[in-house]
Amino acid sequence: MQRWVTTLTSMSDTNTEVSSAYPPSAEFAENANATEELYRTAEADRLAFWAEQANRLSWATPFTEVLDWSEAPFAKWFADGKLNVSYNCVDRHVEAGNGDRVAIHWVGEPVDDARTITYAELKDEVSRAANALTELGLVSGDRVAIYMPMVPEAIVAMLACARLGVMHSVVFAGYSASALRARIDDAEAKLVITTDGQYRRGKAVSLKTAVDEAVAGQGTVEHVVVVRRTGIDIEWSDGRDVWWHDVVDAASEDHTPAAFDAEHPLFLLYTSGTTGKPKGIVHTSGGYLTQTSYTHYNVFDIKPETDVYWCTADIGWVTGHTYLVYGPLSNGATQVVYEGTPASPTEHRHFEIIEKYGVTIYYTAPTLIRTFMKLGRQIPAEHDLSSLRLLGSVGEPINPEAWRWYRTVFGADSTPIVDTWWQTETGSIMISPLPGVTDTKPGSAMTPLPGISAKIVDDDGNQLEPGTGHGEQVSGYLVLDKPWPSMLRGIWGDPDRFKETYWSRFAEQGWYFAGDGARYGSDGEIWVLGRIDDVMNVSGHRISTAEVESALVGHSGVAEAAVVGASDDTTGQAICAFVILKARFADEDRDDMVNELRKQVATEISPIARPREIHVVPELPKTRSGKIMRRLLRDVAEGRELGDTSTLLDPSVFEAIRASK
Ligand code: PRX
Repeated sequence: MQRWVTTLTSMSDTNTEVSSAYPPSAEFAENANATEELYRTAEADRLAFWAEQANRLSWATPFTEVLDWSEAPFAKWFADGKLNVSYNCVDRHVEAGNGDRVAIHWVGEPVDDARTITYAELKDEVSRAANALTELGLVSGDRVAIYMPMVPEAIVAMLACARLGVMHSVVFAGYSASALRARIDDAEAKLVITTDGQYRRGKAVSLKTAVDEAVAGQGTVEHVVVVRRTGIDIEWSDGRDVWWHDVVDAASEDHTPAAFDAEHPLFLLYTSGTTGKPKGIVHTSGGYLTQTSYTHYNVFDIKPETDVYWCTADIGWVTGHTYLVYGPLSNGATQVVYEGTPASPTEHRHFEIIEKYGVTIYYTAPTLIRTFMKLGRQIPAEHDLSSLRLLGSVGEPINPEAWRWYRTVFGADSTPIVDTWWQTETGSIMISPLPGVTDTKPGSAMTPLPGISAKIVDDDGNQLEPGTGHGEQVSGYLVLDKPWPSMLRGIWGDPDRFKETYWSRFAEQGWYFAGDGARYGSDGEIWVLGRIDDVMNVSGHRISTAEVESALVGHSGVAEAAVVGASDDTTGQAICAFVILKARFADEDRDDMVNELRKQVATEISPIARPREIHVVPELPKTRSGKIMRRLLRDVAEGRELGDTSTLLDPSVFEAIRASK
C-alpha cells in the first residue's frame, strides 16, 4: 500500500475536484443518441442489453448465447454467432444504399495532398487488397505486421486482414527496427506491410529501411508489401518485396467475405507492461466490434448522415484501432484522417482542417490540448470552429484547467466534453460521460457506461465510500468486476502472464485490475489518478520503466539503470533515468555519454521513449533486499521532500544523487 499511495497523492494535485458541473444543453440532450434509458435497460438485464447492442451489427449466423464465463478469465461472447468484421465496416453500408457517402476525408501532411474515399470505393479497395493477400498465401489465422504511417492503405490493409480472418499486428511507425523485429518475432508474422517512407514535419524519411533491418535473417516473414508514399529511393529484395500497386491494383474487386466465429481473433496489439517484454494483447471479433460500435455511437453521439468526425490518434495505438477504424466505419460515419503532426507546416494545421472539413466531433489527447494551450488562444481564434459540437479526450487524466480551456476555446463554452477512460486491454471505452445525459466535472471520466461495471476498492477489495473527501485515504484500485464484450482475450502465447498481470490482484473476487488508481468524487463519479504500477504515460503513450531500463543497460557503458516517470506540464509524465556507469567509463565526457544513452533508447525502442533527463549517479537507492526504490527517485526527479526512507539500505545515497543532479 505504502508504495503507490505516495504516487497517487502526488498525482492527484492536478485533479482537484470542483463543485461546478457542466450539464448538457437542453438542445443537445433532446437530440442525443443516448438517453438515461440506456442505463436503465442495461441495469435491468445486462446480458440482454449486450445482446441488443450486438444486434446492431450484421451477423451471418445469429448467436444464441451471450456470455460464457465458465472458463474465466477467458471470456467467450456471442460464441455461436458468426460474422465478418470487414463486411460490417464496409459492405453493409454500400448494400444499404450509402455507397456514395464519404468514409474518409484523408489529409496528407504536405498541404493540398488530400483524398476522399467513399464507402463504395473503400469496399472495392478492401476487396482488392483481400484478394492480393490471398494471392500472397495468407489464410485465416495468419499474422500480418502493419508498419505504416497514416495513409488510407493502412486502414485498407487492416480491413483486408479482418476480411480474411487474418490477424493484424499494427506496429507504430515511430518504433525502431529492433522494436518491430521483436513484435514480428513474437507474432511469427508471415507478411509485413509498409511504405517506402513517411513525411515527418515536411521531410520525406525512409520507413522501409527499418523493415529491411527488422526482417533480415528473420525466419517467418515471406513477403514485404510496400506502398509507394514518398517516392524516395529504397533497397529492394527481389522475391521478398512486392509493391502494393502491383499486387493490389491488379486484383479483382470482387471478394465475398467469409463469416468467422465471434471469438475468431481479430488483431494483436503490443503494449507495455511492467516487464521489458511488450505484451501482445489479443482481441477477437464479435464482442470487440459490438462494444466498439456501441460506444462510438453513443459516446460520440454519431449521426452518420451529418457528422464529420475526427479522431487524431495514430493507428499504431488502440485508439486508432477502435475509434479511427472499427468504430466509425462500423457506424457508417464520415471521418477525417490526418497523416501528419499538428505543427506541420504550422501550428494552425488542426484548426485549418476543422474549418475546411467542418469537423463536428474532435477526439484527442490531453497532451495536445496542453500544447495548444501553451501556444495561446490567438491561433484558434483565427479559425471558424463553430462546426464543433462535441469534444473528446483520451489517454491520460486531463487536468481541469486544460479541460476548461478545451471547452472554452474549441467548444465556444458550450460543447460537451467526453473524457473517456479505457485501455488497450479493454478494447473500447469503459468509463465516460454520455454527452446528452451526464453533468460533467472537469477532470473526471465520470461513471461506467451502461453495460459496464467498475469499482474503486481498497487493498482487501472493499468498495470505497463515494465522496468522503480527498487525499490518500480515499484513493484505491480501479477494478472491472464484470466481464465486458471487448475485453482482451489474452496475451499472445502467454496465458499465465495474462492471469498474473490482470487477474491475480483480486483473484478471489475474480476481478480485473486495470493498473490505475482512482477515487470517488462527491457524487460518486470516478476520478482516475493514473498508473500505480511501473508503467509511465508520456503524451498518452504507454511506456514501461523496465523497457527503458533494459535499453539503457544494453549500452556497454552502463552498469545499472533506474527509470521513473516524473510529472511534466505538457506530456503528463516525462522519463527520468538514473544510471551508474561502469568504472572504465567514469572518465568519459558526461554530456557525450548522456547524449549517446538518449540515442540508444530512441534506437532500441522509439524516439517517444527518449528520456527527458538522464542523471549519472554513483549509487541507486535500494532496500535491504536489493529492490530499487523508484518512489524515492520520483521524489528526487520532481524536486520533492523525500518520502519514507526507513527501509533504505544506505540513506546517504541521496546526498550523492542530489549532488550529481
Ligand atoms: O492510465 C490510464 C490511462 O491510459 C492507460 C491505458 O493506456 P493505453 O492502453 O495505451 O490506452 C490509451 C488509450 C485508451 C490507462 O490505464 N488513461 C487512458 N484514458 C484515460 C486515462 N487516464 C485517465 N483518464 C483517461 N480518460
